[in-house]
Amino acid sequence: MHPHKKRPKPRRKFGMRREQGAKEERAMEKSSIKYGGDGNLAKRVASLLEVDIANLNNHANDQNDKNSPQKPLFSAKDFSVFDHLHSRGRASTQELSEYLSAHPGSKLLDIGCGIGGPARFIAERFVCKVYGIDLTKDFCETAILLNRLCGLDKRIDITHGNACDMPYDDGHFDIVWTQHTSMNIADKKTFYSEIKRVLKPGGTFLFHDIFSNDTLKTSEERQIQLPVPWASQPEHNHLITGEATRDILKDLGFHREIWTDVTAETHLWFHNYSATDNDDHKLSKELNPALFIGKDFPERAKNLKKNLALNKTSVIQGVFRKC
Ligand SMILES: C[S@@+](CC[C@H](N)C(=O)[O-])C[C@H]1O[C@@H](n2cnc3c(N)ncnc32)[C@H](O)[C@@H]1O
Repeated sequence: MHPHKKRPKPRRKFGMRREQGAKEERAMEKSSIKYGGDGNLAKRVASLLEVDIANLNNHANDQNDKNSPQKPLFSAKDFSVFDHLHSRGRASTQELSEYLSAHPGSKLLDIGCGIGGPARFIAERFVCKVYGIDLTKDFCETAILLNRLCGLDKRIDITHGNACDMPYDDGHFDIVWTQHTSMNIADKKTFYSEIKRVLKPGGTFLFHDIFSNDTLKTSEERQIQLPVPWASQPEHNHLITGEATRDILKDLGFHREIWTDVTAETHLWFHNYSATDNDDHKLSKELNPALFIGKDFPERAKNLKKNLALNKTSVIQGVFRKC
């Protein structure tokens, strides 16, 4: 084997070993707030959607039966009022996807896929194979449930795992995508090195992320109003500047293609945003970000907006190519 070539890692699927699960639980506690809930999130979501999970198996079997094909219970868009856990919701996913060049043979990885909103959007629109990885088991289970409910489970493969130690072979993906995940991760070099490792040469890395504002020079200046959706205490906040991110990516040999600052439109969106108002859709009102991020989500969202107003944070869309 070539000395610089990493040995392919064995693929760990959803039902991973207990000690691995414990390790990742610890990583999550160290790096961020604990997302998800008490292990029953998928059941809770199913009940709010008035879906009987037990009957789903029968429904899936019927779908495989050519004599009685059944339509999915929902479309991916039906969930878009609650399943995009990032600023500007589905609209910002659609915007980033305009930089995407994917086709039915492409393999795309969404890192920190949450409950799968962006993965479903991409799988539906680009008809490519989408892989999602997330550290929060509750989110993975919910993503799998929602994928099934809209008939996209064959096109989306969800893995419970850590972005800093991914169970994929070197060069496995044409595209790596991530939205609002990096601020949870302390070890940026490992995070971006893993992205490079799993991308094919010439592959594309797209992100939509929050950073500390480039103009803030000291760590004191970079302190933000807490709690925010990804942190309640300063030691859980892992924002770095856009400039520091560009340096890491350049050192890793990525070529920058797009760097678009969307801070102003994000601030405007939060100005008109109500964390609890979802009156204009027919699903249960309880299907809102507080169910996934925590009951104090309105306060966290308010602080996110305040940090934008104070020029503490920037929101960037980036596209980089692995040389
Ligand atoms: C704000 S949510 C964004 C979810 C999704 N990208 C979206 O936009 O809807 C951040 C996600 O990052 C995940 N996450 C945090 N640290 C992670 C890590 N080290 N590895 C994988 N996922 C991680 C969390 O579990 C959470 O689902």
